Amino acid sequence: MAEPLRVVVTGAAGQIAYSLLYIIAKGDVFGKDQPLILHLLDIPVMMDVLEGVVMELADCALPLLRDVVPTDDPIVAFTDVSAAFLVGAMPRKQGMERKDLLAANVKIFKVQGEALDKYAKKDVKVLVVGNPANTNALICSKYAPTIPKENFTAMTRLDQNRAQAQIAAKLKVPVGMVSNAVIWGNHSSTQYPDASYAVVERNGTVEKVTDIIADEKWIRETFLTSVQKRGAAVIAARKMSSAMSAAKAAADHMKDWFLGTTPGKIISMGVISNGAYNTPKDVIFSFPVIIEDGKWKIVEGLLVDEFSHSMLDATGKELLEEREEALKIIQA
Ligand code: NAI
Repeated sequence: MAEPLRVVVTGAAGQIAYSLLYIIAKGDVFGKDQPLILHLLDIPVMMDVLEGVVMELADCALPLLRDVVPTDDPIVAFTDVSAAFLVGAMPRKQGMERKDLLAANVKIFKVQGEALDKYAKKDVKVLVVGNPANTNALICSKYAPTIPKENFTAMTRLDQNRAQAQIAAKLKVPVGMVSNAVIWGNHSSTQYPDASYAVVERNGTVEKVTDIIADEKWIRETFLTSVQKRGAAVIAARKMSSAMSAAKAAADHMKDWFLGTTPGKIISMGVISNGAYNTPKDVIFSFPVIIEDGKWKIVEGLLVDEFSHSMLDATGKELLEEREEALKIIQA
């Protein structure tokens, strides 16, 4: 059997981690033959809660889980890790401006970037879930200059999963038949959920979703806004933000990154932009990607119409503004 892989989850006492840790520890992300050592980071006041999570992990009696390291020290948390799920972030409190939220998070992700740079494996794969995820990932990467920029990603897989679930419900087919919905841009209300390349596979044939639905109003209004506003709908109903679905999406993202995407399948993730599709360079922008040998590649050459270009411009503009605000905070 392979040597244990060290994996860190931050925000480990929080609600997403509560679902995510089990998914990881039972072998759904890194493979059923890969033993794991989980490093769990949270802040000092959460250490008692974290102890309870550690007890529950032990009580799950999972054979792949070789050790658990709960800590409030980023050095301990990031030492020798090969994968990092950065879930912990300062939540938005009542009356808090976006700028204040960004300021609090820039500080957290600066510290974590520095610790990753010094103590993690140089090929560590970093997934940022904590919001604002794209800009947090950019800051984290900036403070980890010895780790390739390609190793810092932000999660938009939940949005992709939501998009595919909406399409499946509309077509009354199982969600597993739907793939290749694309999320462009920021994980925020400016994201662009795009059904143009989505397909349905049934009875051995592959059909384009837009050929079957052929209802532009549904695609550009109902579908688009229901994906963009799904997070708010969950909060309104549950009085808490999406957690089980966010954990599943984080696991999907990291699994595909480690083990590769299925041929013919496109997934969405926030990655460092090379300017593809006229997007701003050097922001973490969600693109359609495929993954092979642990390396993602933006799918280029997709047909992008005028409407889509305007949507890409809007979300790109927001990412540039967030980057500028974050850099101002750092330099202040
Ligand atoms: P939560 O509030 O239940 O848990 C967050 C945990 O992070 C808490 O235990 C807190 O103590 C911890 N934390 C705060 N600062 C930390 C630091 N500096 N180091 C380590 N841990 C720290 O929140 P939940 O529901 O688990 O969500 C976590 C984040 O994920 C939020 O920022 C949320 O907005 C974001 N999110 C992102 C999604 C995406 O699709 N990208 C989807 C859903 C949530």
